[in-house]
Amino acid sequence: MSLIPGPLYRGLFRPILFSLDAETAHHLALSMLSMMPPLPVADDPPELRCSLWGLEFSNPIGLAAGMDKDAIAIGAWQSLGFGFAELGTITPRPQPGNPKPRVFRLPEHRALINRLGFPSEGMEAVAPRLEKVRRAGTRMRIALNFGPNTDTPVEKVAADYAALMARLAPLADFIVINVSSPNTPGLRNWQSPDRMRELFAAMEQVSTGSRRPPILLKVAPDLDDATLGAISDTAMALHVDGMVVCNTTLKRGEVGVTSAHEGGLSGHPLRDLARDRIASVYRRTQGRLPIIGVGGIMNADDALAHVKAGASLVELYTGLIYEGPGLIAAMKKELANLLRREGFRSISEAVGTATKV
Ligand SMILES: Cc1cc2nc3c(=O)[nH]c(=O)nc-3n(C[C@H](O)[C@H](O)[C@H](O)COP(=O)(O)O)c2cc1C
Repeated sequence: MSLIPGPLYRGLFRPILFSLDAETAHHLALSMLSMMPPLPVADDPPELRCSLWGLEFSNPIGLAAGMDKDAIAIGAWQSLGFGFAELGTITPRPQPGNPKPRVFRLPEHRALINRLGFPSEGMEAVAPRLEKVRRAGTRMRIALNFGPNTDTPVEKVAADYAALMARLAPLADFIVINVSSPNTPGLRNWQSPDRMRELFAAMEQVSTGSRRPPILLKVAPDLDDATLGAISDTAMALHVDGMVVCNTTLKRGEVGVTSAHEGGLSGHPLRDLARDRIASVYRRTQGRLPIIGVGGIMNADDALAHVKAGASLVELYTGLIYEGPGLIAAMKKELANLLRREGFRSISEAVGTATKV
């Protein structure tokens, strides 16, 4: 079912939401979604089914991190038709994030700029919400995205990730280690082979009960080929389970945007850069490391192009702001059509077909 079809969203709901400050509109929409009763979700087209790390996904389209930082609207993401939702970034202790205003729309570019800086209710507030959802069961897969507190000294950052693992890993289908937000000073420095070894060594020490979920690393789009290559090699050597490519960009002119706002840019202008970074990781790892492709996906064509570049799953955030909640149902239908038209029997068959390894 399509919850608020695109034309109705663009003609009615979007003008109302866009008349509000971006963060106010976000909280309003999120609290409405969190109150929504669960809706029956139609079965997904069989071509969209896929399996990764021993987990079944009814479709490859996921909610990107940042939309539901405190895991308050999980039922709504399932009702909207997502195959998975990445919740967070969650920090160990609660923190308010950066001063407001800190989210800005660029409608002429179908883009956003944010410098939220991980506002989070903290892991102890999020855990009971996840426990409740786990007890009830979900068709959708749940990923948790972890980040350190802003006031954590650099020598304790690895311990922050370890604390999040210990508390929340048993509640997640998979984990995403976020070392790529541009809004937490020094965080992106963890995108280096030495720091990665330190981080993953700290997480190895953590006992997560009977099961250790897959762990993925989320990277920035602003890394050059050599650095991204070194990170990909290290990820393979450390048996990291996959990479999320990519977070928001600090670039402006190179992606055709002029704006005085500081922060990470997302949405349409990020699309080609994200696709290029996905292809770069796919080539370097010879398709052996699963990639979640994210950045600038606004429709099924964009999603399929990220898949063909090398992504096994995709995610979006900004597309939902511009196209509304009916986007996911519409995208799934169109994605299945595109696969049939192009002669692919399943989404997995299309992965990496546009990238030479
Ligand atoms: C307002 C906003 C907040 C975000 N917060 C997070 C976050 O907390 N953690 C994270 O890993 N990524 C965060 N992101 C980045 C998204 O997950 C995604 O990587 C990026 O927006 C590119 O996808 P898009 O073009 O579909 O939005 C945020 C993005 C936006 C727009």
